[in-house]
Amino acid sequence: MAMTKPATRPANPRFSSGPCAKIPTFSLDKLADAPLGRSHRAAVGKSKLKAAIEETRDLLGIPADYKIGIVPASDTGAMEMAMWSMLGERKAEMVAWESFGSGWVTDVVKQLKIDAEVKTADYGEIVDFAEIDFNNDVVFTWNGTTSGVRVPNGDAIPADRDGLTLCDATSAAFAMDLPWDKLDVTTFSWQKVLGGEAAHGVLILSPRAVARLESYTPAWPLPKIFRLTKGGKLIDGIFTGATINTPSMLCVEDYLVALDWARSEGGLKGIIARAEANAQAVWDFCDAHDWIANLAVDPATRSNTSVCLKFTDDRIKDGAAFAKAIAKRLEAEGVALDVGAYRDAPAGLRIWCGGTVETADLQAMLPWLEWAFDAEIDAQA
Ligand SMILES: Cc1ncc(COP(=O)(O)O)c(C=O)c1O
Repeated sequence: MAMTKPATRPANPRFSSGPCAKIPTFSLDKLADAPLGRSHRAAVGKSKLKAAIEETRDLLGIPADYKIGIVPASDTGAMEMAMWSMLGERKAEMVAWESFGSGWVTDVVKQLKIDAEVKTADYGEIVDFAEIDFNNDVVFTWNGTTSGVRVPNGDAIPADRDGLTLCDATSAAFAMDLPWDKLDVTTFSWQKVLGGEAAHGVLILSPRAVARLESYTPAWPLPKIFRLTKGGKLIDGIFTGATINTPSMLCVEDYLVALDWARSEGGLKGIIARAEANAQAVWDFCDAHDWIANLAVDPATRSNTSVCLKFTDDRIKDGAAFAKAIAKRLEAEGVALDVGAYRDAPAGLRIWCGGTVETADLQAMLPWLEWAFDAEIDAQA
């Protein structure tokens, strides 16, 4: 049976979960003000880095007494330097419900080998935060990018905890409200919700995190790119734009342009609303079709960025092959790029809904998903 193809295609078929779609107004000439070929330590470079830090604070509503640093190696670099610098002072609780959180568990249990309790949940589920002892150091991911399951809010994190909370918020920052008073270490990368470039991480420290850095020296050696203190004192320069090593001023400019765009969209509230509207379009599609469903079991934990979907039709013979074939059809038609589920996640699709994606593009893409589903059911018969 020949399936009729939808009449319209999305103007932008980029729904990748990282690097994510650039801002809708992006063009390379927007980067013309980048101080290329100049030292990042020159006044012009330093002022751009400082602006990136302060505009991040302003847009995300990060308290004035929190430190914000631009660090090497993207979100991974920011998380690793925090874990290697701060953990080991007390017991750790490692909390994971998908692939990236599991990666942090491996680091702590197999590499740092510190006293740690591991709490995990399957893909689609979340660990019960009421079971966590926040007098330990707790490491978790705000939005599990590979399962599409997020922490609904910070209510379960006590204000008077003794331990530190270390939160990988890379696919949450700029799309979800983050309770800064509950987060001691927060990390993200520019390549996610704002559609920036990879390789640079952002590390945000509460005063309690700084106190830990200045009062505790880990038993293991730290390479230069992980070192946040010198002589027992925080290296303050890292948090004012004097980066540990050389950043890309082109990427910095690109981030500044994205921050500007976010401001023009109504700031944090505006870009969260964009992500919500995008995710809602996909959720509505799932509600209207009985062959596809959100991987997140509890609607309160459904991600509004990395929306993960599973096929639920009994006629599907080989779930993994089926999902791959759908993603391939969508890509071949040029209507959805990079929407296959993450390699370690259950078979299905993952559609990025962060604020740089246009709702109209999702709405134009979803009929193609229906077309691809029908075509693939037909093909396997
Ligand atoms: C939750 C989470 N943590 C860490 C990473 C790694 O990020 P990066 O490649 O920016 O280091 C990703 C990337 O998708 C992620 O989604």
